Amino acid sequence: MRPTIVASSVLLALCAALAGCGGDQSPLAPQSRASREIATLWWWMLAISCVVFAGALGLLAIAWLRRRREGLPVVEEGGGRLNLGLVVVFGMAIPLVVNVALFVVANFFVIKQTEAPAATSTPLTVQVVGHQFFWEVRYPGTPAVTANEIHIPARTRVNVVATTDDVIHSFWVPQLNRKIDMIPGRRNRVLLYADRPGVYRGQCAEFCGLEHARMAMYVYAQPRADFDRWLRAQAAPAAAAPPAAFMRDGCAACHTLRGTPARGAVGPDLTHVGSRSTIAALTLPNDRAAVAEWLRDPQHVKPGNRMPNLHLSDADIRALVAYLESLN
Ligand code: CUA
Repeated sequence: MRPTIVASSVLLALCAALAGCGGDQSPLAPQSRASREIATLWWWMLAISCVVFAGALGLLAIAWLRRRREGLPVVEEGGGRLNLGLVVVFGMAIPLVVNVALFVVANFFVIKQTEAPAATSTPLTVQVVGHQFFWEVRYPGTPAVTANEIHIPARTRVNVVATTDDVIHSFWVPQLNRKIDMIPGRRNRVLLYADRPGVYRGQCAEFCGLEHARMAMYVYAQPRADFDRWLRAQAAPAAAAPPAAFMRDGCAACHTLRGTPARGAVGPDLTHVGSRSTIAALTLPNDRAAVAEWLRDPQHVKPGNRMPNLHLSDADIRALVAYLESLN
């Protein structure tokens, strides 16, 4: 191989290896006790694997260097018993000890730390329902319903009850805890806890259809007072009645605006859509240009999503964009 090919291969491998590191969706940048335990276990597993891999490579190198000589490196004569010893130690004893140790640590310590909280042990429960391809978020005890943005108070244990409206999805906010599957007819639970206020990105972790990759969410961990204010605002009905276009063009068949005649249950609740930072499960920023682009042809922006192209007129798009952006 020519040096340039070797160099570019190494560079490419490094890019691939490092591309997943860091960021607001990395399990290696934990922001809670549960995810710290997972990250620590992962680093230990990586370190042990590296030692084992280096050992195997070392043996391979020795074998290649001595490929023209008979016997083992240390004892030239009567290597039979030493051979057997090496196989027993490196092939059986060490793997057994390593795997049993990892099993014990994972099962009796890490899983305990990441387990779902006892049903009544948390001050807050949030319901998350998976849909192709967005997250519906409900706050039991209040009328608040939002989409793709989960607000929680920081430094507070939150019980997340996850289920699905259609196929299997998987709820995963890597910086806060392990993933949990959303299975039809079942209610799985996971603990969300954030050490400090911040924004943590989550992603659907189970292939669920064409737009699985664009099924993301943000978890906003806020100081308690900010969270309470946010929840009160989200519980309120829509600030204004929808324009005629919303009812006439078919939007109301799929979307709810609490406090208005729009009661569709297919797409996200839009009662406070103006307060969100993105639309279409983090596919586009929530600004006028992007919302207009989305309304004009949602299938072009996110092919395969459930929102049809309604062939809206420019005047209707302008009226709808102004209205949706006003719903804070
Ligand atoms: Cu939902 Cu993948």
